[in-house]
Amino acid sequence: MELDKKDKTSTPHLFYNQPKVVSLGDFAETDDERAVLSHWIHNMEAADTCYQEVAKGLVPEELFESLKKSNISTREHRGQQVLFPELFRVPFPPPADPSFTFIDLFAGIGGFRIAMQECGGKCVFSSEWDKAAQKTYFDNYGEVPFGDITRDWVKGLIPKQFDVLCAGFPCQPFSRAGVSARVANNQSHGFADKTQGTLFFDIMEIIRARRPLIVFLENVRNLVSHDKGKTFSIIKESIESEGYSFNYSIIDSSPLVPQKRVRCYMVCIRDGGKFKFPSIKGPPLPLSSILEDQPDESFTISDNLWAGHKRRTARNLERGAGFTAFTADASKPANTLVARYYKDGKECLIPQEGENPRMLTPRECARLQGFPETFVMRGSKSDLYRQMGNSVAVPVIRSIGKEIKEQILVGGGGNEIRNRSERAV
Ligand SMILES: C[S@@+](CC[C@H](N)C(=O)[O-])C[C@H]1O[C@@H](n2cnc3c(N)ncnc32)[C@H](O)[C@@H]1O
Repeated sequence: MELDKKDKTSTPHLFYNQPKVVSLGDFAETDDERAVLSHWIHNMEAADTCYQEVAKGLVPEELFESLKKSNISTREHRGQQVLFPELFRVPFPPPADPSFTFIDLFAGIGGFRIAMQECGGKCVFSSEWDKAAQKTYFDNYGEVPFGDITRDWVKGLIPKQFDVLCAGFPCQPFSRAGVSARVANNQSHGFADKTQGTLFFDIMEIIRARRPLIVFLENVRNLVSHDKGKTFSIIKESIESEGYSFNYSIIDSSPLVPQKRVRCYMVCIRDGGKFKFPSIKGPPLPLSSILEDQPDESFTISDNLWAGHKRRTARNLERGAGFTAFTADASKPANTLVARYYKDGKECLIPQEGENPRMLTPRECARLQGFPETFVMRGSKSDLYRQMGNSVAVPVIRSIGKEIKEQILVGGGGNEIRNRSERAV
């Protein structure tokens, strides 16, 4: 146990005598404590989690027992705004009657979570180490994700049983841009990148230890061809060697959101089994469909920046290499949104009559990824751009999630697999 043992015997407020609002901050000081407490409160009904054991050391005994008894995470108690309201008054709370459970690894701002919740799933564990992304996650789902997933303490808190492991693990070590940058800086890429490349093996460790029914992964298209296909073979063989089938599909999101985002989606089923990916076809959506009418002036790029873009573009065109910055054609989908977009916006600049072009607003970026309008975005502009660039296209995850639910979890031949599974709910 890594948590500090503090004296939690005295109640820091008059909880018992008057209806005073009780908040996470009254008991949890560190990020680990906030993560434990929020996970416990959202998962009180699940018998197999270790959260309770750790949370017990955080809140005074009397309050702990009272919370346990009232089980505030259940539907009947959601209306009570006195106990930890910030965990429940959020736009995307857990579904009241979940039909399956999942965990959200490398959670970012919860692109998987929002989609899988819509499919009827309940998230029973989340991990994300970026502080700004954690804040956006908390604002929207009322849960503080655990931090670094490579820590044994964090892995140890993952519930023993759950249905789907979701992970859009960091793609920079495998993406074309990430590989070029690493080669230019004489750094290793792929699995040899010691900081980000090995995270897949942390996922494997969790698969071995918990054996979820389904593993649902997302990454860049280049994952398939990286290192002449060797990287992808290692991923496939590692998963198959644990007795899972390995199904994958390369899907472009532009029929569902106005953005060209071609990604590799993997659905792996314990004890074998085929998975049929949904057919995501149709005319690509136009960027114009998500543009704001009157974006703030501050999104217009400066003369200097625009001149620099034009200079570099002319030079790159001459050399026939590198990235070019043109203004976008709003009748077509946008280019792929990337984490670095906040730096200079070169991937998508909106032309403006008689003015320099402008960058997309963070809200427009959220729309490009299919996030609902009610998604709360309170961070700095640069953090929000980075978070949106890192995210998944929500409607694609939702379409695949629906198929996972129908083909494997509840419908058709899925019941057979389901019966063999040691389910969590
Ligand atoms: C490609 S993004 C995934 C975004 C997510 N799928 C979403 O929809 O927002 C990868 C995320 O993994 C996080 N990350 C990287 N290393 C991590 C680690 N060791 N522990 C926890 N999170 C990590 C990054 O901060 C980043 O947000």
